[in-house]
Parts: sequence; C-alpha cells; structure tokens
Amino acid sequence: MTESAVRFVSPKTFEALTNRPVRCSLFDTDTSHIHIEAARKADLFCIAPATANIIAKAAHGIADDFVSTLLLSFNNPILFAPAMNTVMWNKPAVRRNIQQLHDDGISFIGPESGHLSCGETGEGRMAEPEQIVSEILRLSALTIQPHNP
Ligand SMILES: Cc1cc2nc3c(=O)[nH]c(=O)nc-3n(C[C@H](O)[C@H](O)[C@H](O)COP(=O)(O)O)c2cc1C
Repeated sequence: MTESAVRFVSPKTFEALTNRPVRCSLFDTDTSHIHIEAARKADLFCIAPATANIIAKAAHGIADDFVSTLLLSFNNPILFAPAMNTVMWNKPAVRRNIQQLHDDGISFIGPESGHLSCGETGEGRMAEPEQIVSEILRLSALTIQPHNP
C-alpha cells in the first residue's frame, strides 16, 4: 500500500481480510531487498485503483516508494485498473502516460463511465472488482506456465 492508500484503508484491515502480510515501506522490514524478493514471488502485479500519480510514476520509471519500486523490479505481466475524476483522466499528461504504458506492454482494465467518488458522473470509475479478477485470471492463463507440466 502507498502512503496515501493507508490514509483511506488501514493496512490492518487488508491484513485481516486477506490473511496475508501487507507491505507499506521499503525499509520497515527485516528483509533488506524486499522489493526484489516480492517481485520474484508474484505471477502478476495488479494495481487497483491505479491513481494518476502511480500511472505517472510508472510511465517515467520513478521508484520512490514500495509500490513504484516493486513495479520497476517486476518482470511478469502488469495490470492497471485506473480510477480518477473525468477531468484528470482526460488531461493530456495522463493521456500521454497511459499511451506510454500501453507501448511498454502494460495491460489496462477500465475505467468505466459512471458515478465517481467525488459525486460527479463520467469516465473514470474503476472497473468492477469482479471484472478485474476475471482479467487477472485471463492474463494469467495466457502467460503463466504450469509449475508441474
Ligand atoms: C478523497 C480523495 C479521493 C481521491 N481519489 C483519487 C482517485 O480516484 N484517483 C486519483 O488518481 N487520485 C485521487 N486522489 C488523489 C490521490 O490521493 C493523490 O494524488 C495521492 O498522492 C496518490 O498517491 P498514490 O498514487 O501514491 O497512492 C484522491 C484524493 C482524495 C483526498
């Protein structure tokens, strides 16, 4: 989770719901290269919701926190589920960053048009979680070889 994400949902809530450890920092861990270790363990990296900020950082190779550093260390398929206000989504800077990530081979799901958390209606609503899970499974089936063929 990013520093901003923990302002919305507590890491303890995610830990309790997933029964998995939640990482928020590159440094608060006994493992020195936690980003490299975590990157080797996962078959697919999904960022949901993908903010304009992480999209910009990913498009420019910025690695200044755990999520963005893990992203840069990751060598398997990456899926972004963007979510933001319609004006943000349509900004030339965001359009350029999305195009760059498409060109870099990153997959996207959504956003949809609909009710936004800011109270407006328009394009920028995150794809439904069920759709995101289906896309994760679809991409995984395309790219992941069985461990015991
Ligand atoms: C209530 C609230 C809702 C927000 N919703 C979004 C959003 O849906 N998409 C987005 O790109 N930024 C949103 N922001 C702005 C991000 O929180 C801000 O850019 C943040 O620094 C993103 O950091 P991160 O990408 O490291 O998580 C929101 C901010 C607030 C205060």
